[in-house]
Amino acid sequence: MSEGAAPFPALDPDLNQLILCVGRKGSGKSVWAREVFRNWPAIDKWVIDPHGDADPGEDIGTVTVAKLPTELPMPRKRGEHTVTRWIANPGSPTYREDLDRAVGLALHPRSRRTLTWIDEAGEVFPSNRTGPHARILLQQSRHYYASAILCCPRPVTIDPLVLAQADRVVMYDVPNPSDVQRMAESIGVEPAVLKRTLNETRARGPYWYTLYDAREHALYRCPPIPISAGYRHAQQ
Ligand SMILES: Nc1ncnc2c1ncn2[C@@H]1O[C@H](COP(=O)(O)OP(=O)(O)OP(=O)(O)O)[C@@H](O)[C@H]1O
Ligand SMILES: [Mg+2]
Repeated sequence: MSEGAAPFPALDPDLNQLILCVGRKGSGKSVWAREVFRNWPAIDKWVIDPHGDADPGEDIGTVTVAKLPTELPMPRKRGEHTVTRWIANPGSPTYREDLDRAVGLALHPRSRRTLTWIDEAGEVFPSNRTGPHARILLQQSRHYYASAILCCPRPVTIDPLVLAQADRVVMYDVPNPSDVQRMAESIGVEPAVLKRTLNETRARGPYWYTLYDAREHALYRCPPIPISAGYRHAQQ
């Protein structure tokens, strides 16, 4: 366990990677995802927003659509990048298929680099019911130049592949022991060690988090991510 001002490995935006954020309601997952999503440079961005509250902000040129497009818009000029947000309709009879098709937009065309933010990963990667595109994203994201930030309050409710394939796990307050157990088993850390680490992080104060870095197989304690100006206005 390392800690301090800037102890954890900086996120390399040139690397394709999957990042999972977990923690109870209101613990800070969406804020983290939003900040990292906003600040990720030089990439086409895609928000799959089942509940309509994952808004990266107008100031970064987000275009929100209610109808799922057949492909992500192409940037107008070289060097420009698009930010598209689709608000899913949970009432639609094709809701699950639509969500999976939405993941497919991040994968094709294959050579295009994309960053996808899925604020309700439980809807897109439900245990044992992950769709074909979602499965490809989890298993082969690198081959498709696709990175993703996935948020989910309860790790036990999502496909175990998400934890198994995550390059980083951002852990806020996870009060349920079965969630801690599942994470510990998946990342290969003693459950008691992870539990103690999470408790110590929580004791630091609101919005501190524990970061697991799979490449280094290491846990880091991290201070609250700074929130961009205008955050409140961007929320609905
Ligand atoms: N790093 C932070 N610094 C300051 N305030 C924060 C930070 N992170 C979160 N907050 C505050 O906590 C609120 C809840 O955070 P957030 O929406 O990220 O929770 P969440 O984990 O996504 O919850 P839910 O499961 O309900 O979606 C934010 O609206 C903000 O006011
Ligand atoms: Mg949230």
